[in-house]
Amino acid sequence: MNILVVGGGGREHAVITALAKSPKVDKIYCAPGNGGISKYAECFPVKATDIDGMVELAEKLQPDYVFVTPDDPLVMGMVDKLNEKGFRTFGPKADAAILEGSKVFSKSLMKKYGIPTAAYETFTDADKAIEYIKEKNSYPAVIKCDGLALGKGVIIAKDEQEAEAAVKSMLLDGKFGKSGSEIVIEEFMEGPEVTVLAFTDGKCVKPMVSSMDHKRANDNDEGLNTGGMGTIAPNPLYTRAISEECMKNIFLPTIKAMRAEGRPFKGCLYFGLMLTPNGAKVVEYNCRFGDPEAQVVLPLLKTDLADIIEAVYEEKLHDLDVQWEKGACACVVMASGGYPEKYETGKEITGLDEKGQLADGKAFVYHAGTKLEDDKFLTAGGRVLGVTATADSLKQALDKAYEAVGEISFESAHFRKDIGQRALKG
Ligand code: AMP
Ligand code: GLY
Repeated sequence: MNILVVGGGGREHAVITALAKSPKVDKIYCAPGNGGISKYAECFPVKATDIDGMVELAEKLQPDYVFVTPDDPLVMGMVDKLNEKGFRTFGPKADAAILEGSKVFSKSLMKKYGIPTAAYETFTDADKAIEYIKEKNSYPAVIKCDGLALGKGVIIAKDEQEAEAAVKSMLLDGKFGKSGSEIVIEEFMEGPEVTVLAFTDGKCVKPMVSSMDHKRANDNDEGLNTGGMGTIAPNPLYTRAISEECMKNIFLPTIKAMRAEGRPFKGCLYFGLMLTPNGAKVVEYNCRFGDPEAQVVLPLLKTDLADIIEAVYEEKLHDLDVQWEKGACACVVMASGGYPEKYETGKEITGLDEKGQLADGKAFVYHAGTKLEDDKFLTAGGRVLGVTATADSLKQALDKAYEAVGEISFESAHFRKDIGQRALKG
């Protein structure tokens, strides 16, 4: 099997590493890839959002499958275009990726099918939205723009002033462009968050090992929201009883609802959950693997990922036994100083061997924002590396990952020192 992986971050590196373990996979291509990925897959300089360019590349390479990993191309319909040209794919079509592409769509789907989530209203008119906020007079208020916004389209406003500013920035000032031309205002929920990724072929859903993201830039969950500064799996708060509740009230009803709407979801569906005092509720859906959730979930996958891709495409997931390793996995993200705001790139990374890995193999280094120049790895993005270790226990996995982080350096490197601490406390 030859596979083309679309994307170029740590998540894509994790997908490629999992595929490389398969005895069935001969050749892995990646577009655009990055410095570290280029050691594991042949990379092509086609942007992940360039649909025509990607179809052209697929026509040249003739892969058996195209694995479309990031949200933008999925929401834009890359899978639809590839299927039209006769290519087999992993990832939802646009009419299903809308589950992430439009919060107005996903909220109304949950309302219609009784899937637990925060109560909400939608608005296109700023005056009406502000009037609603004043009437509710309940803070924090949660204000979200409808479309994709690089994870920045959610504002948790602590008072009326902040809420009003958020509404105006989205509906009047066009801060998020078209993504913010409609907004969702929803009830603030409290409780720990859990990510559950699930394989689904549109009929059958097989949840993966649960995980915990660390979204804020600094220790103790302080600082700005980021794409994710580290992850652990499994999430100890996600008990068997909660997983059964989620299967019954959230996972199966979502898959069924999408089918009933004529939008079967095929690929990896990301359930962002909050364990509230009133049960597990959906915070958000994503139409893809999380980043850096994929980096801790895929290393625990025992079953051949190539077999899963095939089963999902052929809608035979029901017949496949998807198995997981028993241990734990931890990923610590090393970012450029200043991320998620302004940061510099082009810094030399030391401590890595010629494959971009640690010579002692203690941990695996997923490359997110790196490039290769004169045989040297340089920083090329906000999140640079995801240093990942597996072990029998979470504590051991964290110790290994942090030990490995200590062996890698670049100017102004920033990482959180407390990844997994909340999970260890239970
Ligand atoms: P989202 O992009 O919808 O996942 O939102 C980003 C983050 O904002 C989530 O991971 C939560 O931490 C927080 N959040 C979103 N919606 C709510 C809500 N209704 N109540 C409390 N926190 C929320
Ligand atoms: N780590 C969160 C996400 O991928 O959306």
